[in-house]
Amino acid sequence: MKRRSYRTSIRRRLLLQLFTMAALLSLAFFLVVRAVAERAAADTQDNILLASATSIADAIYSEQGAVAVDLPYSALSMLGSISEDRVFYRVLIGEETLTGYDDLPLPSPAQGEFETFMFRGEEVRSATVTRTVSSGGSKERATVIVAQTRLGLAAISQRISGMAAVVGFGFLLVATALSLVAAQSALAPLNRMTQSVARRGPDDLRPVDTQTPSELVPLVDALNSFMARLKASLTQSEEFIAEAAHRVRTPLATVRAQAQMTLRRSEKPENKASLRAMIRAVDESSRSAGQLLDHAMVSLRTDQLQDEVFDLVELTQDTVAHLRPTADLKDIAISVELYVETLPIRGDEILMQNALRNVLDNAIKYSPEDSDITVRITEEPRISFVDQGRGFSADDLGDITKRFSRGANVGDIVGSGLGLTIADEVMRAHGGTLEIAPNEEGRGSCVSLVYPRD
Ligand SMILES: Nc1ncnc2c1ncn2[C@@H]1O[C@H](COP(=O)(O)OP(=O)(O)O)[C@@H](O)[C@H]1O
Ligand SMILES: [Mg+2]
Repeated sequence: MKRRSYRTSIRRRLLLQLFTMAALLSLAFFLVVRAVAERAAADTQDNILLASATSIADAIYSEQGAVAVDLPYSALSMLGSISEDRVFYRVLIGEETLTGYDDLPLPSPAQGEFETFMFRGEEVRSATVTRTVSSGGSKERATVIVAQTRLGLAAISQRISGMAAVVGFGFLLVATALSLVAAQSALAPLNRMTQSVARRGPDDLRPVDTQTPSELVPLVDALNSFMARLKASLTQSEEFIAEAAHRVRTPLATVRAQAQMTLRRSEKPENKASLRAMIRAVDESSRSAGQLLDHAMVSLRTDQLQDEVFDLVELTQDTVAHLRPTADLKDIAISVELYVETLPIRGDEILMQNALRNVLDNAIKYSPEDSDITVRITEEPRISFVDQGRGFSADDLGDITKRFSRGANVGDIVGSGLGLTIADEVMRAHGGTLEIAPNEEGRGSCVSLVYPRD
């Protein structure tokens, strides 16, 4: 079977979509985790800076009219506990620096309590707390600024980003693997259906009944209705052929019967001769028409072979009885040699009858007047038709069973070249063979239908 190359593949498209979705989700996951983590780390630093500044502000006191501060140890150690970052502070009373780095800038009023800026070449974050202290009757404004570099924070956020990237990538890998599985399982019913249809023989037109998901139901229904129509049309053709055969044969049979009756009654030898010729011509045309129709029917039926048991001996005897009148016209004696009582076989009886009739018909046709035909039935199972006719030409044997092929030996005998084609096709449909050999006992040929032994 030739495979077409499909431009689009559902599987590929499904995979691509699932993969894109997974990649977008992974990226979103990475960005969210990183943002949340950075925010949390920054908040933590802000809180500690504020706590530190507040505890310094709480330690400002006034004594004998002067404002002083006792830097609490905890105020700066709590900052050191989160990282190795450098810490700066400045305490101002009014505009005067009381202690700390006096170049540490005051926050711009607009900024609120936290601010980020460059200080001594490094980025720092600061928290500012203001208090009002009273010293010697006057109220003073005290400002505490605590700042810290942000190296630790950067390190933390880098670590978290790295982790988020690893987790996001892992997620992507898992999602890709799952997409593969999903695509596979989504397409599995389609594959199952394809296989169940592909496995069928050419004559199997039963509806597809594999379990199908609802999405495939319309396709399966369409397929089934197509096969039903095909089956109906095959049956119709077969009925038509049978009907046509009947309509062609019946009037011809009537003409033949009438001619035969007249032949019996007529006295004059010249009348007898022309009536015989007429009967022969009728036989010939009914044979040719019949063969064309037979071949059409055989072609149809070999595709859907019937499976019935019948007796080959009985069928052969029926066929001989049927053709005996034709043989009688040429004074040919047909004798049946039985080496078995019965030969029950499985197959298509109508087809078999066709094969037998065509081979015997040939034997009669290609035999001279006043000769003998022997039909030999042996146990093999084998049915041989031995005649004393002209025999096959050796040159013809290669493709004598081809459609419409006639031998070089036919002379003026009319025919359609379909008889052996029919016999051969029928035998092959039954797993048997058609054998053509010369008559071992002298002049003529021996054509055999051989069955497989089961
Ligand atoms: N019994 C026979 N003796 C000699 N030749 C035969 C015999 N049967 C068939 N043939 C040869 O085989 C050819 C093909 O036979 P067939 O297919 O029945 O076609 P047809 O009989 O219409 O010519 C015949 O034309 C003839 O040459
Ligand atoms: Mg023939």
